[in-house]
Amino acid sequence: MNITVFGMGIIGSRCADNWQQAGETVTRWNRTPKELSDFVADAAEAARTSDVLSFYLKDAQALRSVFEQIRPVLGTRHLLMNHSTIDLPTTLWLAEQCAAIGCAFVDAPFTGSKIAATDGKLMYYLAGADAAVARAEKILTPTASAMIPMGACGNATVIKLATNLIAACQIQALSEALGLSLAHGISKEAFEQVITQHGTASALAKMKLPGMLTGDFDTHFSLDNMRKDSVYALEFAQQMGLSLPAMSTVSRRMTELCQEGLAAQDYTALASPYLS
Ligand SMILES: NC(=O)c1ccc[n+]([C@@H]2O[C@H](COP(=O)([O-])OP(=O)(O)OC[C@H]3O[C@@H](n4cnc5c(N)ncnc54)[C@H](OP(=O)(O)O)[C@@H]3O)[C@@H](O)[C@H]2O)c1
Repeated sequence: MNITVFGMGIIGSRCADNWQQAGETVTRWNRTPKELSDFVADAAEAARTSDVLSFYLKDAQALRSVFEQIRPVLGTRHLLMNHSTIDLPTTLWLAEQCAAIGCAFVDAPFTGSKIAATDGKLMYYLAGADAAVARAEKILTPTASAMIPMGACGNATVIKLATNLIAACQIQALSEALGLSLAHGISKEAFEQVITQHGTASALAKMKLPGMLTGDFDTHFSLDNMRKDSVYALEFAQQMGLSLPAMSTVSRRMTELCQEGLAAQDYTALASPYLS
């Protein structure tokens, strides 16, 4: 199989490695050129090289921009899989554009961060036509520990935004609880002991708490990427006539912290105002 991976950020670079280790022929593309032996700088040329095109780009704007660059070379042999977290209108637009060209498209975002990507253990949500999803499942295996079929195109995008809403609000809640406890003089050790045994101790809380306690915000998933996902969720909620008060507040907080210079840090930097 020939596969081109678009986006050599935290996740795309690791998935490309996993496909290569599984024996696939990989081509890598990134907006900012990289010195890699399998790197192709021209997006259209990178798309021409492979039948399978896999996208781990930052946002909807990046997807639309790269799609326009590769559009002239797309054909019926191609399968496009979008793994970037984007907004619903862009997912539906991509599906429409691919249908018009005659290439297959799978709405395929994922959960799992730097470590899961390194270990080939991402969990994907797969939406689209059955045949395309079945093809995607086989291809994604070296990068995945689980794949959940989601039905019609767009469903995977929405469930991804919904789960990130939980993650962002949970980390904000954890940060506020930490702040309150530290302000009263409760030790970090005691806080950790309580939280990791408490009913609210999710896998996410257990994974993220050690870094939050020490102020280690090494980036697994950036604050700016979580912020943009909150914007997509809020835009979608507005279209649906839904109010998301917790997400609105956390989104504003993330925007402020990004403006204060924390955009590239892990989104657990939501705890930073409570550590000083
Ligand atoms: N990290 C996670 O834990 C995680 C988990 C679930 C979902 N996701 C989603 O997966 C996607 C990738 O995540 P990541 O953590 O790998 O992101 P990342 O490290 O921030 O990498 C983003 C990538 O997008 C490229 N890019 C940004 N703007 C672009 C543009 N206008 N045109 C073309 N390329 C552009 C960047 O290229 P440059 O090098 O040129 O900047 C880079 O390759 C994002 O949508 C993210 O929300 C991430």
